[in-house]
Amino acid sequence: MVSPERDDPYGDGRMYDMEYADHDEDRAWYAAIARAARGPVVELGCGTGRLTIPLALSGVRIHGIDRSGSMLARLADRLERLPPIVRDQVSFAEADYLLPEAVPPADVLPAAAVLWPFNALHHCPGPEAVTAVLRKAAEWIAPGGRLALDCYLPDRELYSRDPDQRYEFRTFVDPSDGGMLESWEQGWWDEERRLHHVVYTYRSGDGRERRSHLALRMYELGELRAMVSDSGWRIVREVRDFDGTPLGHRPLKWIAVLER
Ligand SMILES: C[S@@+](CC[C@H](N)C(=O)[O-])C[C@H]1O[C@@H](n2cnc3c(N)ncnc32)[C@H](O)[C@@H]1O
Repeated sequence: MVSPERDDPYGDGRMYDMEYADHDEDRAWYAAIARAARGPVVELGCGTGRLTIPLALSGVRIHGIDRSGSMLARLADRLERLPPIVRDQVSFAEADYLLPEAVPPADVLPAAAVLWPFNALHHCPGPEAVTAVLRKAAEWIAPGGRLALDCYLPDRELYSRDPDQRYEFRTFVDPSDGGMLESWEQGWWDEERRLHHVVYTYRSGDGRERRSHLALRMYELGELRAMVSDSGWRIVREVRDFDGTPLGHRPLKWIAVLER
C-alpha cells in the first residue's frame, strides 16, 4: 500500500508546512518555557522552524538540530526573509541527535532549556534511544535547566480503525504549483513493534498522488516516566493538553516539563 522509505514525511519541507500551517496550539506553551529559561535554548527536531521562528521572534536564542535537509532548507528560506536581528538568534545543524557527534555549538552551552516538541520522540526506535537522547540533553543543560516535550500516548480506539478506510478528508493548495490537493488519512497499528502507522495521501487534479508515512513508536506512560528517571531528570509538570489540563484518566497526550 505504502512504502515508508519512499514516503518520508520530512522529505519536502513545503508539504510539511502546508500540512501543519494551522497547527499552533503548542506555540504559547513552548514560548513560555523558552522565555522563562532566560538563556539559550536547544530544539531537538526543529524541522522547518514552525516553533523555532516564533521563539526567535520573541527574543530567544535558539539552536535547532534536525536530520532532514529538506526541512532545514525550508527553515533557511524562512530565516532569509527575516531581519538580521531575528535571524542572528537562530542557528541550526543537520545532524541525527541519536548520534554522539550531534552536539550544539559552544555559545548555546550550557543550554537553559531543551525542547523536544511535536511528537518527535516517536521517531526514536525504542526506549534505549529515548533514554539516550534524554541523557545527552542532561549533559547539555545548565543546573536547574528544563527539558520540555510532548508526545502521544497509545489510543486503542484510534488503532481499531479499518486500515483500508479513508479518514479526515481535507483540501490544500499545492505549494509547488498552486493547484488543489485532495487529502485523506489512513492508519494501522503494529502491536508487535508498537508502531502506529499514519499515512497522509495528497492527490492532485491530474490524479498524481504523494504520500507521507509516519511510523510512530508508541510508549506507555509508565515507560516514559521510567525513561525520565533513568536518564537523570525529574518530572516537574505533566499535563494532557496545552491548556494545562491535568493528566486525569486515560490521557492521549503526555506533555511534560523535566528538570535536572
Ligand atoms: C514532527 S517534526 C517537528 C518539527 C518542528 N519541531 C515542529 O514542531 O514543527 C519532527 C522533526 O524531528 C526530526 N527528527 C526526527 N528524528 C530525528 C533525529 N534522530 N535526529 C534529528 N532530527 C530528527 C524530523 O526530521 C522532523 O523534522
